[in-house]
Amino acid sequence: MLTPIFLALIFCSSCLSSRNKLEKLPGLYFHLYSDHYTGFLNVTDDERLFYWFMESQNTPSVDPLIFWFNGGPGCSSLTSLITELGPMLLDKTGENLKRNEYSWNRMASVVFLESPTGVGFSYTETGEYPIPTDDFLTAKLNYDAVKLFFKEFPEYRNHDVFISGESYGGIYVPMLVDEILNGQKDFPINLKGMLIGNGLLDKKLAQQTRTIMSYGRGFITESIFENHLVKCCNGSITCKDTKIDILDCSDLPLPEEWDDTFYDRYNLYRKCVDLDCGVYPHTIPESFFNSKRVRRTLQIPHDKRWRDCDDLAYDRNLESVKDQILRAAKNGVRSLIYFGDADLMCNFIMGQKFVAKLGLKKLSPKKPWFFKQHHFSGTQTIYENLKFVTIHGASHSAPETHPAECYHILQQFLKDQDI
Ligand SMILES: *[C@@H]1O[C@H](CO)[C@@H](O)[C@H](O)[C@H]1NC(C)=O
Ligand SMILES: *[C@@H]1O[C@H](CO)[C@@H](O)[C@H](O)[C@H]1NC(C)=O
Repeated sequence: MLTPIFLALIFCSSCLSSRNKLEKLPGLYFHLYSDHYTGFLNVTDDERLFYWFMESQNTPSVDPLIFWFNGGPGCSSLTSLITELGPMLLDKTGENLKRNEYSWNRMASVVFLESPTGVGFSYTETGEYPIPTDDFLTAKLNYDAVKLFFKEFPEYRNHDVFISGESYGGIYVPMLVDEILNGQKDFPINLKGMLIGNGLLDKKLAQQTRTIMSYGRGFITESIFENHLVKCCNGSITCKDTKIDILDCSDLPLPEEWDDTFYDRYNLYRKCVDLDCGVYPHTIPESFFNSKRVRRTLQIPHDKRWRDCDDLAYDRNLESVKDQILRAAKNGVRSLIYFGDADLMCNFIMGQKFVAKLGLKKLSPKKPWFFKQHHFSGTQTIYENLKFVTIHGASHSAPETHPAECYHILQQFLKDQDI
C-alpha cells in the first residue's frame, strides 16, 4: 500500500513534469504494447525541443535506451519515427497507421528528438526563427537535451545508452558522443555505442565519391567522369592528396540535359512515377503531423507548421567526424556505421574510404553477409570498436526499404555480436 507521503510525491512529480503520456493517436487502431510520451525539453529560457519517447515493448526496465536524430540539417526525427523505425508507420493515405513488426522499440526504448531549435515542433517562446547555429552549437544543444531527458526520466539514467541517427546525423551523432564523453565526470551516462545510418562523415569525401558512384551505377559518361576526376580528385580515382576545398565540386556530376526527376538520388533503384523522384519523398508525414487532431493529441502549444525539413540558419562548420569517431573508439564506445548501398547522397564509398583511413585495427576483412542464409545482403568489415556494414539495394533511409535486415543489424549490434 502507498503511504500518503509517497502518493503526494508521485502527484507532485507528475504535475511538474512535461511528460504527456500518449493515450491514443488519430489513425491508430492497434495496441502499441508500450508507453509513449511526448513533450518539450527546455534547453534554454527560450528554446523548446520536442521529443517523442517510446518505451521498449520487451522489458523497458532493463532494455537499452537509444536516442535518434534525423539529419538535414533541419529534418525532423519524427519522419523516421513514422516511416522507418517506430511501431506504427503511415500508410499511403497519410491518415492511417499500420503496424511495423520491425520497430526498433521491440528491443530498446527510443527517444526521437527534434533538433536543433526550429525543426518540426521544436520552437522558441519568443517566436523568433531561425536561430543561427552550427555543428558545435548543435552538439551542445543536443547534449543539454539528453541531460534534460534524464532529469525527466531518471529511471533510465543507468541504462545502456546508444546515440544514433542518419544522414546529417553522421555529424550530430559523433559530436554528441564527444560531448557526453567530455562531460562524463559531471554527468555520468552509461554510453555504450553509436549507430550511424547513411551518415555524412566527411564532406569532401562525400562529394568526391558521388562522382565515382554515379559513374559506377551507369549514370554519367566517360568524359564527365574524367573531367570530374581531374577537377575534384586531381586526376586520381582514389581521390588522395587533393585540395578539394579550393575547387568547386558541390554540384552533382550530371549531364546538363539530365533532369534529376528521372531518378531518386536517395534510392537509385526506385522506380519513379510521374517524375516524382526529384523531391525527397516524405510529403505524407507533413499532412499527418499538421492535422489538427494529431497536433491536439501531441499537445503542441503553437501554430508553427510542421515540416519534414525546415530551413535553418545553419553553418556546417565541421569538415569530418574523424577525430570524434576515433576518440569514441579509444574510449571503448562501439560504432556501427551502416550504409544502404543504393544511396548516392551519403554513399557507401564515402563510408568505406572514411573508415579505412581511420587507422583502427582491422579484426576481419570485408566479407559478404547473408540475411537468414537467403541471399547476399551486403558486406561487413570489422575493426576494433567499429563495424562497417553495407545493406545491398537499400536506400538513404535503409530501415524504410530493408526493415528486416536493419532490425537484425541493430539487434546484433546491441548484443555486441557480429551480423
Ligand atoms: C518548460 O517551459 C514551459 C513553457 O514554455 C513551461 O510550461 C514548463 O513548465 C517548463 N518546464 C520546466 C521543466 O521547466
Ligand atoms: C595533383 O597531383 C600532382 C601529382 O600528380 C601533385 O604534384 C599536385 O600537387 C596535386 N595537386 C593538388 C591540387 O593536390
